[in-house]
Amino acid sequence: MNIELIPLQQHGDERGLLVALEEQHNIPFSIKRVYYLYDTLQGIRRGFHAHKKTRQLAIAVKGSCMFHFDDGRQTKEILLDNPAKGLMIEPEMWHEMYDFSQDCILMVLADDVYDESDYIRNYQEFIERIKNENS
Ligand code: TYD
Repeated sequence: MNIELIPLQQHGDERGLLVALEEQHNIPFSIKRVYYLYDTLQGIRRGFHAHKKTRQLAIAVKGSCMFHFDDGRQTKEILLDNPAKGLMIEPEMWHEMYDFSQDCILMVLADDVYDESDYIRNYQEFIERIKNENS
């Protein structure tokens, strides 16, 4: 399973570090929405969905968390713990996030506005959809 982890250039000097996110430059889509998760309680697992069309890029701007990916055939666990790395969440990729560090700020860029009808929140429905597409 190919999950893209995009390296983001760090502009560092004696004052510290800076990362710039620019659509169609280091972000491979037009950014329509940004949201972030923080103060996630310990032991919480969230996500539990796939998107029909929306593409997203997740960045742990502080702290760390784990991602569970499932494309209907394979699963993969990925640690996101670096503010200079962006994790692509492509459409039709079931994902869950867990093991959030207490200080974790998980920022997500999306190529579309929030639309509940773009969500597949039922795992069985997700599997059926993948099967039908491949038959
Ligand atoms: P939810 O989809 O449950 O988060 P996750 O699946 O990642 O665990 O979102 C929590 C709430 O926030 C829910 O009421 C929908 C709302 N929300 C927005 O209003 N806009 C957004 O862009 C997102 C991602 C969520």
